[in-house]
Amino acid sequence: MTSDITPGSPGVGSHRAEPAGPQDDLVTQIAAALPEWLPTQRWFGGKDREITAVRPLAATDLPAGDDVLLLHLVVEVEQGDRREPYQLLIGHRDDQVPDVPASASIPLPDGPAVYEASGDADLTCHLLDLIAGSTTVDGLHFAPEPGAELESGLRGHPISTEQSNTSIVYGGQYILKLFRRLTPGTNKDLVLHRALREVQSAHIADPLGSISGELAGDSVTFGMLQRFMSDAADGWVMATTSVRDFLADASDLPPGDLGGDFSGEAYRLGRAVADVHADLARALGTREADAAELAATASAMVERLERVAASVPELAPHADGISDVFRAVAEVPTPVTAQSVHGDLHLGQVLRTLQGWLLLDFEGEPAADVAERATLRSPLRDVAGMLRSFDYAAQQLLVGQAEDEREAERAAAWARHNRAAFCDGYAKVAGHDPRDQAALLRAFELDKAVYEVAYEHANRPDWLLVPLASIDRLTTEGS
Ligand SMILES: Nc1ncnc2c1ncn2[C@@H]1O[C@H](COP(=O)(O)OP(=O)(O)O)[C@@H](O)[C@H]1O
Ligand SMILES: [Mg+2]
Repeated sequence: MTSDITPGSPGVGSHRAEPAGPQDDLVTQIAAALPEWLPTQRWFGGKDREITAVRPLAATDLPAGDDVLLLHLVVEVEQGDRREPYQLLIGHRDDQVPDVPASASIPLPDGPAVYEASGDADLTCHLLDLIAGSTTVDGLHFAPEPGAELESGLRGHPISTEQSNTSIVYGGQYILKLFRRLTPGTNKDLVLHRALREVQSAHIADPLGSISGELAGDSVTFGMLQRFMSDAADGWVMATTSVRDFLADASDLPPGDLGGDFSGEAYRLGRAVADVHADLARALGTREADAAELAATASAMVERLERVAASVPELAPHADGISDVFRAVAEVPTPVTAQSVHGDLHLGQVLRTLQGWLLLDFEGEPAADVAERATLRSPLRDVAGMLRSFDYAAQQLLVGQAEDEREAERAAAWARHNRAAFCDGYAKVAGHDPRDQAALLRAFELDKAVYEVAYEHANRPDWLLVPLASIDRLTTEGS
């Protein structure tokens, strides 16, 4: 223990651009250790490039009791010409070893034992209490949503299925998502949840609170508290269980005739997604995209394709076929309806509860920049996202297996069956069938598949065959 980090000590606990003074020595040491540590964390979004510098932007001492430090830290991660702010919670205990995994520890050559504290249930409990108590600490605002009455004193445990953010579950009642990579303005996830709550959407987990503040003159969302659905089943788990049942069955019955059939759920999911699109349109409006916007959309897709094809040789043979589909977007008759959409919809972002399907995580596609994510978009993007996910669910059991024609054909049959059921459900509620807008739907599916190629190439090369098989089908058969 050094006196440098005594809780509540002056110096560390204020927001400012440049740390100065003896208390900030700890923050400086942590920032110096982060280039090594950040890439080891699942949620860190910058694994594609080397970190060239990490600078502290703001550090706030949060009240967390005696002999304990809980520091809210915002750092800027520099990777060449890219600079992005990230949020961290730093913990330190005077004389106890915290109950967190070794990977949370941030080794400081000359400093005290500090760790990333989102896994420390004793410390994260304070975050909920600060929200419940509507507290402001040095420019960090912890607030319940209007009308939300929160129970305090619950311990918070992070969920293990962490993706790009860190989510902490409190007593099976609430879930607090801490956004890791920070974006200027109120986070889209919170904006859309609030808008959907306003129109009483039946397909979201209600937003209950937030953590917000300022960063470089802009407002910023650090966290969002929601109702935790403890009775929920994950869409991805349900779908892949159905695929497994189907592939394991020795008979040649079609997917709809077997136990474990998912198509009833796929149909209901289609209805729920159409409902959410209608709710978003009601809450935030729609507009008509003109020919210029379609041309710009087509160019953006071609540009991404060219970028990805330049670094992934496996994509190159398909590039011309994909590019034809993208260019056809510019020829689609206008106007086309545009509106706020989910932006990153797939089976891992939906939960089946007793009341029906819920959609989670309205932040948008991780790779899209903020301006792109914030623009009004076509609901067909979400339909395309879900259709891609059915392909993924069907194919994922084949990854790493020896080629087996019968299995591959059955996986494809499962995907066809469930993709169709999803579109049927969507059409029933929306009053129009997304498959009737084939040119746009196919382009959006291919755009998503190109994104997947880039992702798999960087993270899971074994999986590349999944988007590539779909690209082959979409460019030769058309759907
Ligand atoms: N309200 C909720 N109730 C139950 N589980 C949830 C809830 N919100 C999120 N989850 C679980 O947490 C996971 C991650 O949440 P998500 O909002 O998608 O965050 P991320 O931005 O990290 O992807 C989800 O896939 C789901 O399993
Ligand atoms: Mg998610």
